[in-house]
Amino acid sequence: MRISIFGSGYVGLVTGACLAEVGNHVICVDVDAQKVARLNQGHVPIHEPGLDDLIKNNMAEKRLEFTTDAIKAIAFSEVIFIAVGTPPDEDGSADLRYVLAVAQSIGQHLTEYKAIIDKSTVPVGTADKVRATVQAELNKRGVQQRFDVISNPEFLKEGAAIGDFMRPDRIIIGADNADVEELMHELYAPFNRNHDRLLIMDIRSAELTKYAANAMLATKISFMNEMANLAERVGADIEQVRLGIGSDPRIGFGFIYAGCGYGGSCFPKDVNALERTFREYGMEAQLLTAVSAVNQRQQQVMFAKIHNHFKGDLQGKRFALWGLAFKPNTDDMREAPSRPLMEALWQAGAQVQAYDPKAMDETRRIYGERADLTLCDSPEAALQGADALLVVTEWQVFRSPDFKLIHSQLKNPVIFDGRNLYNYNRLKKNGFSYYAIGRGDKV
Ligand code: UDX
Repeated sequence: MRISIFGSGYVGLVTGACLAEVGNHVICVDVDAQKVARLNQGHVPIHEPGLDDLIKNNMAEKRLEFTTDAIKAIAFSEVIFIAVGTPPDEDGSADLRYVLAVAQSIGQHLTEYKAIIDKSTVPVGTADKVRATVQAELNKRGVQQRFDVISNPEFLKEGAAIGDFMRPDRIIIGADNADVEELMHELYAPFNRNHDRLLIMDIRSAELTKYAANAMLATKISFMNEMANLAERVGADIEQVRLGIGSDPRIGFGFIYAGCGYGGSCFPKDVNALERTFREYGMEAQLLTAVSAVNQRQQQVMFAKIHNHFKGDLQGKRFALWGLAFKPNTDDMREAPSRPLMEALWQAGAQVQAYDPKAMDETRRIYGERADLTLCDSPEAALQGADALLVVTEWQVFRSPDFKLIHSQLKNPVIFDGRNLYNYNRLKKNGFSYYAIGRGDKV
């Protein structure tokens, strides 16, 4: 098929590369000329395992190209994906400016049938707005032309996005006629081989599915974080509780890890946007408001433990920080729990010696050079002369460290573990002060 994808961000690049890999001809369009130029030279702007190779190979095979030329891309394709950003507005709702700008441009240049697919995470009712925007442009031109708008939300996890696209658990399609359903079956056939993973539904249900999925997962995490805080008070261990409840298949083991809060580009933004949708319809999202509030508080829990341990005296203290990205296998630091933690430490006059396997450049980009931040070349280098070790992201490389070395490098053998990675009793026995989440130490 001939496919165009508007927006060469995270979702657009993964979608484009994977669709090209199965033999489609894909044009990715972006308004950022510099980004497009760099992509054409083979520089992929994000870190996602496997994406670099996929993009380079498909560019070499001439199945994937990058351009700023929207008119060319519209003329070329039968299927057009909208995968541009939907950043939060000041009030938390999704800003549809970029989505509707693409719709407008499609309407201005449409000369034959196109299937327009909303891939961006957009509130319920957006497909109708896209349709109305395209139609208004056609009307202005006095052109009568059939087109379809489809909702096809993505469920890609950063760090595992290629696998998620190639082997999805489900492909959600919101469509309003049989022809377009058939087209979607054809488009997704290469990813739908063993059994049918296409779930075709009405457009509004598809739009809501995306938000409901992310809000449900965020709810599970906030629930566990709330339980973890109680576990600390009552002398229980949240890790035991997790195993105890996860073994009930109705609950399941996924997304019930307590920690220092969820981050990333999706959960915080999508929970807020869904809350906003409730308000727009005159309703109150009681549960979702609590999910956000619990998460914000949870992002402060590690600092509270550190503050308590050092009896409020953090001036001049040095902290080894392991993990900056919001989760492993990405360099993404959007809403990362490392950020409020570092900022609170700086505010209190402390120094941070940080290491992350992938997010060092991103940290430099966000915070620039500052006297109270040292970016270290290795986890070990970050430990040198530090008053305590703080673990914020559960990268594999942090899971089984040399505790003897940690003990010898730190000024005090203190570990604050925001991801419950280590054996609580063993560390205590080996002379560490070990603070985890929901495992006995009170805040
Ligand atoms: C999420 C959804 O999983 C994905 O389907 C959707 O398309 C986009 O949003 P992502 O943001 O990449 O993906 O990350 P995810 O792996 O879901 O983790 C989100 C956050 O929750 C991370 O900060 C992670 O550390 C945290 N988390 C996850 C927990 O604190 N506990 C858990 O049990 C699971």
